[in-house]
Amino acid sequence: MHSFFTKKILEWNKKNNRRDMPWKGEKDPYKIWLSEIILQQTRVEQGWDYYLKFINTFPTVQQLAHAPETQVFKLWEGLGYYSRCKNLIAAAKIIDKEYNGEFPSSYEKILELPGVGPYTAAAIASFAFDLPFAVVDGNVLRVLARISGTETPVDSAAGKTLLNKLATRLLDKKQPGLYNQAIMDFGAVICKPKAPACKQCIMRENCRAFLSGTVEKFPVKEKKIVKKTRWLYYFIITHKMRVYIRKRTAKDIWQNLNEFLLVEKDGPLTKKDLLMQAPVKQLFRQKGTSVTQISRVYTHQLTHQTVHGQFIEITVDHIPNLGADFVGVTYRDLSRYPFPKFMITYLQEKNVNLSQH
Ligand code: ADE
Repeated sequence: MHSFFTKKILEWNKKNNRRDMPWKGEKDPYKIWLSEIILQQTRVEQGWDYYLKFINTFPTVQQLAHAPETQVFKLWEGLGYYSRCKNLIAAAKIIDKEYNGEFPSSYEKILELPGVGPYTAAAIASFAFDLPFAVVDGNVLRVLARISGTETPVDSAAGKTLLNKLATRLLDKKQPGLYNQAIMDFGAVICKPKAPACKQCIMRENCRAFLSGTVEKFPVKEKKIVKKTRWLYYFIITHKMRVYIRKRTAKDIWQNLNEFLLVEKDGPLTKKDLLMQAPVKQLFRQKGTSVTQISRVYTHQLTHQTVHGQFIEITVDHIPNLGADFVGVTYRDLSRYPFPKFMITYLQEKNVNLSQH
């Protein structure tokens, strides 16, 4: 038996849902998985071309598993949150080796893959295998919080339990894939975070939030998102046409990407302070070191942080002693290495050709 809500969502989907996306209706679990990993922290419009690029380059999970990792990272370049890419490679290798290239077909096995949490496992299980698992992503949470008018914060343990139960109760168990995509689309198109289209909404007479005129108040959250501001100073040390870069190991969104010598601060530095930073200061102890350019401040807005960055070009006439993890690379070869979006913008402005050759 369908609840009224389930019936209405399916009806809206059939009659009014015009949302088109390349992974919609896809049945190949590999392609669904790829789209879901991309969409974990990326908007649909931004993820769209990356998805197409990935399935064109690697039409099967085996091809992805056997590709050189640098090629995969290069393809991911610009998407951010690179631990997703690392997990993507790890999961592809597991599927290739342990499952003989056949994507696992139970919720529990899918959930064991690196980078796959309950949301992503439910999406793959329902879209690819029509298993009855409800997806509960940001869109679904918002729809259910508004309809039910729950004051329990959706990011609290109690709120999560409550909404997961509600989501499971409302799921169409006979066509879970269709229903899950429909409720997500409904959240994205009608029950939007800002300026929801309540006028066109088929659920308005049954929506607690709408009936009390408080739609924008939901979903209630207990934690305020703290936005961080970071200041990154990149020193581009050049010796005989080679620039020095290293692979990032810090466990953050740029893990595994490459960078120039970096000094990170909580606030802005003056020009004088810049050259007094420890790793740079020692370069000036030797003759033949000069600052050739200081860039403008670049700003990159991420979901939970604002990043400011400045690039300082320094030329040296000796091989710089920066530590064993640095390598000297010609400008031509820079295109082989993936970089944070931020550095790409700078290099592109400088006309460094970053397309692969
Ligand atoms: N976000 C995550 N998965 C999605 C999907 N299948 N469709 C639309 N948005 C999504």
